Amino acid sequence: MFNEIEFEKIKRLPKYVFASINEIKLQMRQNGEDVIDFSMGNPDGATPQHIIDKLCESAQKPKNHGYSVSKGIYKLRLAVANWYKRKYNVDFNPDTEVCISMGSKEGYVHLVQAITNPGDNAIVCSPAYPIHYYAFILNGANVVNIPIKWDNEMNLDYESYFSDLKKSIQNTYPKPKFVVVNFPHNPTTVVVQKDFYERLVNIAKKERFYIISDIAYAELCFDDFKTPSIFEVEGAKDVAVETYTLSKTYNMAGWRVGCVVGNPKMIGALQKIKSWIDYGMHTPTQIAATIALDGPQDCIDEIKAKYEHRAKVLIESFKNAGWELSKPKASMFIWGKIPEKYQEMGSLEFCKRILQEAKVAFSPGIGFGDNGEGYVRIALIENDKRIRQAAKNIKQFFRNS
Ligand SMILES: Cc1ncc(COP(=O)(O)O)c(C=O)c1O
Repeated sequence: MFNEIEFEKIKRLPKYVFASINEIKLQMRQNGEDVIDFSMGNPDGATPQHIIDKLCESAQKPKNHGYSVSKGIYKLRLAVANWYKRKYNVDFNPDTEVCISMGSKEGYVHLVQAITNPGDNAIVCSPAYPIHYYAFILNGANVVNIPIKWDNEMNLDYESYFSDLKKSIQNTYPKPKFVVVNFPHNPTTVVVQKDFYERLVNIAKKERFYIISDIAYAELCFDDFKTPSIFEVEGAKDVAVETYTLSKTYNMAGWRVGCVVGNPKMIGALQKIKSWIDYGMHTPTQIAATIALDGPQDCIDEIKAKYEHRAKVLIESFKNAGWELSKPKASMFIWGKIPEKYQEMGSLEFCKRILQEAKVAFSPGIGFGDNGEGYVRIALIENDKRIRQAAKNIKQFFRNS
């Protein structure tokens, strides 16, 4: 019906690359096969008990059952501001510089919707968490990619990044208005130090663009690495916002609690668009999220230790299977280079074959953009026993193919 009515916006979204892997996975499970699944960054652990208890307690109170506040209840905005003060020694005004979102993804998408005009240009790393590009594409903007390069300790290659950034700014018309950064980086796990943001903020002020930084994995860092925030840089608030989430830190992915903080002009735009679009997240969830941020933080050490331990087990057992991988400094992933022998088939085909023949699921690097080709993303969401089993299956696959 109505062939003349086209949904142009939806046509700008390509077919989801991960969909074909998901379809095979579903089919295998329906056939009763056990898939060892490293494909999604979906934490497998339980939310800490004290947070669940607070949710239950506040859900009993009728006053919490009505519409909430679209930018988030004051106490949660204050808890976010206090988290930044404790962790990074930076100050935010909870009214004008903090907005609560239904997961950081929702905050990011609505922020981009609020601040982007059709035809704008944004600079985003490649590979990337897909919505980092497609939020702009959905809003009629264009994205210029900067390839992510790193050293053998998974640190960003600054010189390559800043040289590409300079070229992209010079060669793109109209001049880019936005630069998106995400460190620890999904999918590569690459990290930066504070001096990266010093350089970036400096360039943003000179070249006149806004920065959106995503630190979803801020708390999941290993050994002595600590995730910096862009706001540790003096004056960053003039040009930047940052998104953060409770999904990974407290195993709360399904609860949908995140935030965006920083530049009041951008935060004001997000708060305004959200006031038109939604009535705010379920109040008991916001109260429990406040307790997550304000309450005991030792649960984070346990969650972190679990991912670090799994990374160690996976690297050791995959090495025995003949596959060398690098240790991440942060996040809940390993970014694995596909063994030489299988490079030519590409990451999507490699993932399909290994899924069908070894019953192990990974995310193909190409799903994160062209520069992800040749790699797979391995999410550390299976336990030790299943990691070792996956390694055995893969060893067999390598032998037979
Ligand atoms: C880099 C990055 N940002 C944001 C998100 C979204 O997190 P949420 O919407 O659960 O806060 C994810 C989820 O995997 C992510 O990897």
